[in-house]
Amino acid sequence: MEIVYSRFSVLFLFLLSWTSFTTTDAYDALDPTGNITIKWDIISWTPDGYVARVTIFNFQQYRHIEAPGWQLGWTWLKKEVIWSMVGAQATEQGDCSKFKGDPPHCCKKTPTVVDLLPGTPYNHQISNCCRGGVVSAWAQDPANAASSFQISVGQSGTTNTTVRAPRNVTLKAPGPGYTCGPAKTVAPTKFFSDDKRRKTQAMMTWNMTCTYSQFLARKTPTCCVSLSSFYDKTIVPFPTCSCGCQNSSQTGTCVDQKIASVIQASSRKNNYEPLLQCTQHMCPIRVHWHVKTNYKEYWRVKVSITNFNFNMNYSLWNMVAQHPNFNNVTQLFSFNYKPLSPYAGINDTAMLWGIKFYNDMLSQAGPVGNVQSELLFRKSPSKFTFEKGWAFPRRIYFNGDNCVMPPPDSYPWFPNATPKLATSPFIVLLITFFSVLIRM
Ligand SMILES: *[C@@H]1O[C@H](CO)[C@@H](O)[C@H](O)[C@H]1NC(C)=O
Ligand SMILES: *[C@@H]1O[C@H](CO)[C@@H](O)[C@H](O)[C@H]1NC(C)=O
Ligand SMILES: *[C@@H]1O[C@H](CO)[C@@H](O)[C@H](O)[C@H]1NC(C)=O
Ligand SMILES: *[C@@H]1O[C@H](CO)[C@@H](O)[C@H](O)[C@H]1NC(C)=O
Ligand SMILES: *[C@@H]1O[C@H](CO)[C@@H](O)[C@H](O)[C@H]1NC(C)=O
Ligand SMILES: *[C@@H]1O[C@H](CO)[C@@H](O)[C@H](O)[C@H]1NC(C)=O
Ligand SMILES: *[C@@H]1O[C@H](CO)[C@@H](O)[C@H](O)[C@H]1NC(C)=O
Ligand SMILES: *[C@@H]1O[C@H](CO)[C@@H](O)[C@H](O)[C@H]1NC(C)=O
Repeated sequence: MEIVYSRFSVLFLFLLSWTSFTTTDAYDALDPTGNITIKWDIISWTPDGYVARVTIFNFQQYRHIEAPGWQLGWTWLKKEVIWSMVGAQATEQGDCSKFKGDPPHCCKKTPTVVDLLPGTPYNHQISNCCRGGVVSAWAQDPANAASSFQISVGQSGTTNTTVRAPRNVTLKAPGPGYTCGPAKTVAPTKFFSDDKRRKTQAMMTWNMTCTYSQFLARKTPTCCVSLSSFYDKTIVPFPTCSCGCQNSSQTGTCVDQKIASVIQASSRKNNYEPLLQCTQHMCPIRVHWHVKTNYKEYWRVKVSITNFNFNMNYSLWNMVAQHPNFNNVTQLFSFNYKPLSPYAGINDTAMLWGIKFYNDMLSQAGPVGNVQSELLFRKSPSKFTFEKGWAFPRRIYFNGDNCVMPPPDSYPWFPNATPKLATSPFIVLLITFFSVLIRM
């Protein structure tokens, strides 16, 4: 009996680790082609190099680049220098001492470039620049899902056979998480003139593709899910320490509201380190899914998102939920909604985000640090059930990061359905009891 149990638990642990590995992989099941593509268009040659238009396209459906914005780095292969930039800047000039006259903008072999801030003078702007490195997700706001700058490079070679693409490109967006592949020479980009009646073309174009992995980005999760229903009084919380423990030094400390306001008043602005409100889960974000009402042909869910981070107003937040009944969502209140169909013919995934100027910003922790919506689903007679946790979401993402779900055996059960017999602590107790009996 004991052997059977330990085998079972090994199998369970294996399954657990397997599922957590698959969800933290670079491949995202809900956005299988999601990537950030960096396009490097050489638009003219100069006496000692070239001028390029660099554009960062965020082709991810729901993962945006939030404040403090992207940082792009690379390694030059030759002795290149950056003479000047428009719409972005290198963070360090480096050693330009061997240049007479006006020194270059940057002489480092491994430059790091950041976007300019909003309000930059017009003569330093180009289109799609100067948003402090913030880039929207493709499904949420395609018009703001790209960021561009112009760069003038010297000592680089002046023909398409002598120039070398940047190597070892790194993208922090912000912080780690992205891995960029090598530059590929692709068909030169064609540009339309403003009146769309003339086409020009780049001298040469390189594409680089970067993909995201939550596993690389952070060691601890950033959000968790709790569940409740009208038919069961218990709220299923997240396991204690979903995102960290209050007493662990690794995830830092937490504070209450009064202390938070003192700390905020004394600290500098733009501090992006989380300052968490003390909770059992220690997650910056909690998503609560409440099955609220059961009608004859419809059922209603209330979703609330709560911010527990005193140091962050999540502007342009978004949430992705996977549930089989999203194929027939009838009405959605006070959030924007877009179905995502990562695979043809399957409509079980939805992206939700705030309405501009109403609730598109999830305010810092405190009395107003939450947003809410209600979803009305039409029942599909063949599939709909309150049994076995069917009414709860399969997966939730907040700002592109997978949220920790409660263990399935703790989901609220419909009174008529099989009783809560199969909870694992009970089985463990039973098995321990029997194994003690057998030994005796
Ligand atoms: C990047 O995303 C675009 C748009 O979804 C897609 O066309 C392209 O194939 C993707 N690239 C890679 C390498 O996955
Ligand atoms: C370089 O330019 C020549 C024409 O000037 C063209 O035939 C060739 O394909 C180009 N090579 C690359 C790698 O773009
Ligand atoms: C790029 O990175 C690889 C591995 O870190 C390293 O071996 C290589 O020398 C780097 N290339 C350049 C041009 O720095
Ligand atoms: C290069 O990137 C641009 C913009 O992301 C895209 O339109 C183009 O299809 C890409 N080219 C290739 C060959 O992937
Ligand atoms: C930290 O707290 C958790 C839950 O509150 C507890 O299980 C754990 O033993 C504590 N660890 C230490 C080192 O005190
Ligand atoms: C969040 O926004 C509010 C209102 O605009 C502002 O008072 C507060 O300082 C902001 N908090 C942070 C951490 O940026
Ligand atoms: C998925 O949703 C789209 C848009 O709402 C709709 O056009 C399509 O028919 C749906 N497909 C299925 C299989 O439900
Ligand atoms: C939505 O529900 C209606 C009524 O039950 C049904 O006729 C229709 O086929 C459903 N649509 C989908 C995509 O399942």
